[in-house]
Order: sequence, then C-alpha cells, then structure tokens
Amino acid sequence: MADCRSRPLIVAIDGPAGSGKGTVAVALARCLGFSYIETGSFFRTLAWRALDIRCALQDGLGLAAIVESVWFRQERHKVPIQALREERIGLAASEIGKISEVRAAFTIFQRQEVLQLRVPGVVIEGRDIGTALFPDADCKIFLTASVEARAKRRFLELQTKEREIAYAKVLEDLSQRDQNDKERVLSPLCPDTTYQILDTSKLSIEEATQAAERIVRKCLTDLRGRK
Ligand code: DC
Repeated sequence: MADCRSRPLIVAIDGPAGSGKGTVAVALARCLGFSYIETGSFFRTLAWRALDIRCALQDGLGLAAIVESVWFRQERHKVPIQALREERIGLAASEIGKISEVRAAFTIFQRQEVLQLRVPGVVIEGRDIGTALFPDADCKIFLTASVEARAKRRFLELQTKEREIAYAKVLEDLSQRDQNDKERVLSPLCPDTTYQILDTSKLSIEEATQAAERIVRKCLTDLRGRK
C-alpha cells in the first residue's frame, strides 16, 4: 500500500461520545495493519493536567502552554487510563475543546504526530478529524447512534467496572457533552457530505466493525483505481 505521498493513508472516524468509534477504530486499525490515534485522549489528558495543576479551564493561553510543554510531550502517557476515562474528565475535555487556543495547539501537535509516522496508514478517531484536522483524509466515516443507545452502552460499561452510577446521570452527562461538542463555534461535531454515515444504534460492535471495514476497503479500492 506504499505510495509516493509524504503522509500515511488516513482513515478518519468521527462521532459523538458512546457511538462505539473507539472500539471500531481499534478493530479497523488492527485488521488493516494501520496505526491508531485517539484524539479524545489528548483532550482528556490536557483536562486532567489542567485540573491537577489548577490551570483554569477557560485559560486558553495557559492550556495551550500545557500542550506545548515538555510534560505533554514526554510525561503525558504516565497518567492512569482510569483517571482519564472518568466522566468529569470527559466533560472537562469537552469544555476545553471549545477554546480556540486549545484547538490551534492540538492541530499543530496532532498533525505532526501523524506526519512523522513511518507506517502505511493510520486510523484517527475524534470529533473533527475529517473536517478540520485532515480534511483530505482518504476515507471518512461518521459513526453515530441515538443518545439512548449510547447512554445504555456507557452505563453497561461503567457497571462492569463496578462503579455506582445511575443511568439517568449517564444520559444527562452524554447529552451535555453532545450539546457542547455540536454547538461549539469552532470545529463543531457535524459531518459534511464527504463522510459516510454509519448508524450503530441497532448494531452489535462486531456488526458495526464489519460495516466500517467494508466502507474503508471500498474507499481504498476506489483510491487505488484512481491512481
Ligand atoms: O472521544 P472522547 O469522548 O474521549 O473525547 C472527550 C472530549 O474531548 C469530547 O467530548 C470533546 C473533546 N474532543 C474534541 O473536542 N475534539 C476531538 N478531536 C476529540 C475530542
């Protein structure tokens, strides 16, 4: 799949919280032999660090300075995954995702991360990968599901981790995050016509992955046909 371009093939998977995009993106990367990048973890790590060092979540310049810091480049992987998965961190990540300085700093950081990879392809998931980060991505999928289906999945996931949490609270937090992500002025969560939409409300994770794989394989075949 190697070609003369200076970047790997890019598969962009965007969608709201709980749409299954993380699981589907990991499975896709594995079956295609591509690398995987989860951009939500960048926003979550920044939110975690800001709360840890008491940087205000409205302080755009302070937050951008964290993204540009040595800590972010070298130490960020040390934050425990469980801490990043907490819903309060998800909400904080969604808040800072509205800030222009944060999005500008991450755009530079994440593009560099991808462009320096020496791999045939990369599956990147987030909210605005195919609209803002890589509008020229080779394949774009928008994974979605009803808010109730997504809240149910998240609720079951949290329950298996033996955390006490009410379904109503999970639904409320997800709806709040949807509103933040869709209504923000900068790079809102909104697919344009270049995306293929995949509604996973009634699909199992295996079915969703298979459907996504079919879409990507067709995109890559079409791409080869155009060369
Ligand atoms: O994908 P996730 O649920 O882990 O993302 C957490 C939050 O980070 C999400 O609600 C909004 C923000 N985010 C963003 O603004 N842009 C991205 N590309 C990824 C995440």
